[in-house]
Amino acid sequence: MELISPSEANLRRAGACIASGGLVALPTETVYGLGANAFDARAVARIFEAKARPSFDPLIVHIAALGDVERVALPPGPTARILMERLWPGPLTLILPRRPDLPDLVTSGLPTVALRLPLHPVARAIISYSGTAVAAPSANPFGYLSPTRAEHVARMLGEKVDLIVDGGPCPIGVESTVLDVTVDPPVVLRPGGMEIEAIEALIGRVAVGGVGSAPPVPKSPGQLNSHYAPRTPLFLVSAGKLAERADAVRSEAAERGRLAALLFDDASRGRLGAAASNFAEIRILSPRGDSLEAAANLFSHLHELDELGVDAIWAERAPERGLGRAINDRLYKASTK
Ligand code: TXA
Ligand code: MG
Repeated sequence: MELISPSEANLRRAGACIASGGLVALPTETVYGLGANAFDARAVARIFEAKARPSFDPLIVHIAALGDVERVALPPGPTARILMERLWPGPLTLILPRRPDLPDLVTSGLPTVALRLPLHPVARAIISYSGTAVAAPSANPFGYLSPTRAEHVARMLGEKVDLIVDGGPCPIGVESTVLDVTVDPPVVLRPGGMEIEAIEALIGRVAVGGVGSAPPVPKSPGQLNSHYAPRTPLFLVSAGKLAERADAVRSEAAERGRLAALLFDDASRGRLGAAASNFAEIRILSPRGDSLEAAANLFSHLHELDELGVDAIWAERAPERGLGRAINDRLYKASTK
């Protein structure tokens, strides 16, 4: 593994590495992805091996320009076209009917493909220089926390990738919103970095699979209830309610040892009052209560608490609006059930 800066020469090198069958970890505006040539089944197989990911879990294909959609998918209908034109590049993945020449491994044999045009200039440059479409799941071992910094990737997958391009911390910090536009109305399969409000403003109501309401056989493994999880047990409480659970927390501390609290904002910290002394570590997602900032900090706080080796994490839900939905989805999936 080599960790490289996003200089022009290195971006070309990363693109060439993908074109010749390599695995490149690259920053996107959401999380770091583990990229390979989507049309090279052997390279794609290396992604599954590196992540220890079940091969029934399909990958997102990334392109660098709108003109490349039809290399991967069938010509999009009017709803998909509006979303592409207005919300791409950005943290929105669309499920579309696929082209038959895409390797089955990419889509797990589904008749559809997940497609995204990312905003991050480093991702865009690498995809362009690769000359192909890039299949890239989040660059973490299957089921573990997603990486929002190059060092998260180096620590989790370092030996398994050819190059890691360090583009600094990912500005959005949670994965893209996955929207299935092959059905009417479209269905959100995973809440993420693109606010549902922004989608609905363009195409009207969409259906949302609520947190914890995943069907027994998930259509999209992003709907699995245990996912994005730290090793440390994580307990989830309602927004602003950690203070009320002080008794439970105190006995938990006595039994388990060092506890961490993951709070949404300074107001939650204030409500905690004297109960704060039960926690060896306290992290605040956004002191001023901004859900964009909170999302950007979510995975890096969880990685850090996991590395510190605390015995349990108590986390409060975010207010359920804007990116708060994606934050709550990830916290729920990370929680001990
Ligand atoms: O922000 C992101 O989306 C990041 C960056 C790297 O782009 N990628 C990412 O990929 O989160 P991954 O593989 O970790 O998540 C892809 C999600 C999974 O929940 C997968 O099941 C779903 O998309 N998916 C992929 N293809 C699908 C398909 N054809 N139908 C339904 N769901 C699909
Ligand atoms: Mg993932």
